[in-house]
Amino acid sequence: MIRIALAKGRVSDSVLEILKGKGIEFGDEKDDRKLILHEPEGKYELILVKPQDTPTYVEQGVAECGIVGRDIVMEQDSDVYQLFSLEAAKCKLCLAGKPGGRLERYSNIKIATKYTSSAEAFLEQKGVGFELIKLNGSVELAPILGMSDAIIDIVETGNTLRANGLEIWEDICEIQCVFIANKAALKTRHKELSELISCLYEGKV
Ligand code: PRP
Repeated sequence: MIRIALAKGRVSDSVLEILKGKGIEFGDEKDDRKLILHEPEGKYELILVKPQDTPTYVEQGVAECGIVGRDIVMEQDSDVYQLFSLEAAKCKLCLAGKPGGRLERYSNIKIATKYTSSAEAFLEQKGVGFELIKLNGSVELAPILGMSDAIIDIVETGNTLRANGLEIWEDICEIQCVFIANKAALKTRHKELSELISCLYEGKV
């Protein structure tokens, strides 16, 4: 049995659909409080975990593999293999703020974000002075309340920005889901993992 750690939320919704399309179904997925889902053939078990914790379950080896947004993997320095991207839960990392704003107007900019590593790399590459304010959610509030000049956050539909009177200033990068694997398991459970990988892999890296 291969245990797959799946990031709860936007990733799990679309990955469960992909798995279903590949003939891998979990009968108990309708019960949204269940954290462990079983596939009737007993080949796979899914554990539904917080996105930020997904690499940890895989690194620790309690799950042989996992599926999580690349935004999370970019923020963490987990010792896992990132094998390939999946066409699921596509979104982008953006710099956003009040309408009409631009990064070039600032010599020193205050940015609120959940993604401090990615934000730091982007702002350093832009050569602008910056101060980061780490938040864990509802980041859009920061520029509205004057706590920051802008945010760096993921945008999927754009609805959250629109609903809060903000707009994208600049796209930073595209973000997809990534299939990650425990390093030891890729050797010791190679046959079973290969079967799952070839089922999910669509030629996109
Ligand atoms: C993410 C992100 C935005 C929103 C973007 O938040 O931080 O707030 O989704 O999606 P949209 O473009 O489709 O509106 P999430 O839903 O993870 O909640 P959070 O703010 O609590 O982190």
